[in-house]
Amino acid sequence: MNQTKSGFTPQYLVDEHVGSSLISHEILPVRKKPIAGTDTGKTKPAVTSLARGGVTGPLPEMTTPGPATFMKLMDCTVDRCIPALVTAFDLSTHRKAVDIGGGSGCLAHHLATVYPDVHVTVFDLPQVVEVSLQQQPEEMKSRVSFIGGNFFKDDYPMADLFIMARVLHDWDEERDDVLLTKVFNSLTPGGALLVLEKTLHDDKGGPLPALLEDIGMATLSIGHERSGKEYRKLLAKHGFDQIEIKEIQGSNHFDAIYAIKTEQ
Ligand SMILES: C[S@@+](CC[C@H](N)C(=O)[O-])C[C@H]1O[C@@H](n2cnc3c(N)ncnc32)[C@H](O)[C@@H]1O
Repeated sequence: MNQTKSGFTPQYLVDEHVGSSLISHEILPVRKKPIAGTDTGKTKPAVTSLARGGVTGPLPEMTTPGPATFMKLMDCTVDRCIPALVTAFDLSTHRKAVDIGGGSGCLAHHLATVYPDVHVTVFDLPQVVEVSLQQQPEEMKSRVSFIGGNFFKDDYPMADLFIMARVLHDWDEERDDVLLTKVFNSLTPGGALLVLEKTLHDDKGGPLPALLEDIGMATLSIGHERSGKEYRKLLAKHGFDQIEIKEIQGSNHFDAIYAIKTEQ
């Protein structure tokens, strides 16, 4: 078992360490500038410090999590609120959904279970899909499929529902514009986009879970959290309308935003 100098063993360091780094594979778009007071200040100071329970100093290679460990970390924060996420809006009229950056398929599997008429495709990096397919429950194989690719460059399948959970907050506005343009163009008219992100109050003064998430993203990535008003503006800029936002109660990483691509 890998322990930090403080004796604290973060759960996601307990498991196996897949050789490939999530950073070098751009699973998380890590901020290149060093953060004052953290680690070596080379390329991933904040991640190395956080992954080691706040302990600073040179980083042994084994503490860099790969796709499998990163997905476990993601999934354990989705699991506890997943029923609320898939039922925040009635998705039963949809037939074909694509979960952009859907990782292990945790959300996709729940969605396909709650809505038996919806087939879900998870689009994620090839090295993530490889691990996800190995872990996929046998009974879900006909309901949820996986496509490996680069979501900035490769085509998405056409669908009447797109899902983006904790993807937009990873990137800057320029890259989010690329993703949302591709999503909009791949949505059938009348289709919808479900964004799952924690939203800040419009004055950015709270709530606490969103502020903490915002600090996390500012430290770890090139992204940030947005207020509901900012999400409305961003989605409207890309042609979406009838934008609705629902708060997911409790301490979690999500609120639900649903927006329509209106038929012309
Ligand atoms: C913060 S995680 C969110 C995972 C999942 N949606 C969730 O909320 O638990 C971001 C996801 O985007 C994927 N990703 C990052 N860059 C990507 C790229 N260029 N192409 C495809 N997927 C990418 C990562 O592999 C990861 O699964």
